[in-house]
Amino acid sequence: MSHQYILVQKKDRVGLITLNRPAVLNALNDTLMDEVCAALAHFDADEEIGCMVLTGSDKAFAAGADIGVMAQYGLMDVYKGDYITRNWAPISRIRKPIIAAVAGYALGGGCELAMLCDIIIAADNAKFAQPEVKLGTMPGAGGTQRLPRAVSKAKAMDMCLSARMMDATEAERAGLVSRVVPLAQLLSEVIKTAETIASYSLPIVMMIKEAVNRSYETGLAEGVHFERRLFYSTFASEDQKEGMHAFLEKRPAHFQHK
Ligand code: CAA
Repeated sequence: MSHQYILVQKKDRVGLITLNRPAVLNALNDTLMDEVCAALAHFDADEEIGCMVLTGSDKAFAAGADIGVMAQYGLMDVYKGDYITRNWAPISRIRKPIIAAVAGYALGGGCELAMLCDIIIAADNAKFAQPEVKLGTMPGAGGTQRLPRAVSKAKAMDMCLSARMMDATEAERAGLVSRVVPLAQLLSEVIKTAETIASYSLPIVMMIKEAVNRSYETGLAEGVHFERRLFYSTFASEDQKEGMHAFLEKRPAHFQHK
């Protein structure tokens, strides 16, 4: 498959997607998002892939939706074209884990794209913001919904209303990112984490992702019930037998992803 705005690589069981539109700091236009969705779906369907990584450049993960394009759009263009939905919403239906490796700017839609991933690992130069208010608009790809869940209502209000940038240290303290690493080690650290995840039983990993995501959508009792059912179902997998017997026999587990 050839791509205009992304690079796609397989590294053992890890699928790596690099946003590659440097002239505009990876501004997210339809072609780029079509390519991202297609690449994620491709890896999701690939039995040999256990985890995916989405990254940008050292300067920008993505500086947001493409302002040059949005400036031309009227209401009917965005409504009828299903803008920021048609080729964004499919990301939340990807079943394998996606790690966002964020260096530099993750602004507006860039921050929202990172939040659509399952884990955000940031370089020490990462900067997050929802600056849409400065453009006379507002976050449109989940920023007002996912940010408060990640960093609290007060901090999300602060960011969405003032448009200020949050640096990597603050983002980690606030819970938006799982950890911060030096820029030079970002990709190697993220790939290492992705390889670890991909070494585990794929169906079990997918169930864990599904269960953690459920916590966003349901109350506690319903979520715990859902988790318990999935937990029980792991006892029907070959990998659960292998994992537990390997522990008891003091040897590494060899998962067959079934
Ligand atoms: N869309 C289109 N082009 C963009 C862009 C964007 N979101 N962000 C940057 N660019 C372009 C610039 O226009 C510039 O192009 P030219 O060289 O042709 O002039 C190029 O990328 C480099 O940018 P700068 O010269 O501005 O670089 P800088 O280092 O001085 O500043 C920046 C970097 C602070 C990220 C600045 O570019 C900026 O503020 N960008 C816009 C950020 C923004 O507002 N994002 C939110 C978009 S709205 C949105 O995302 C809606 C939603 O919820 C889905």
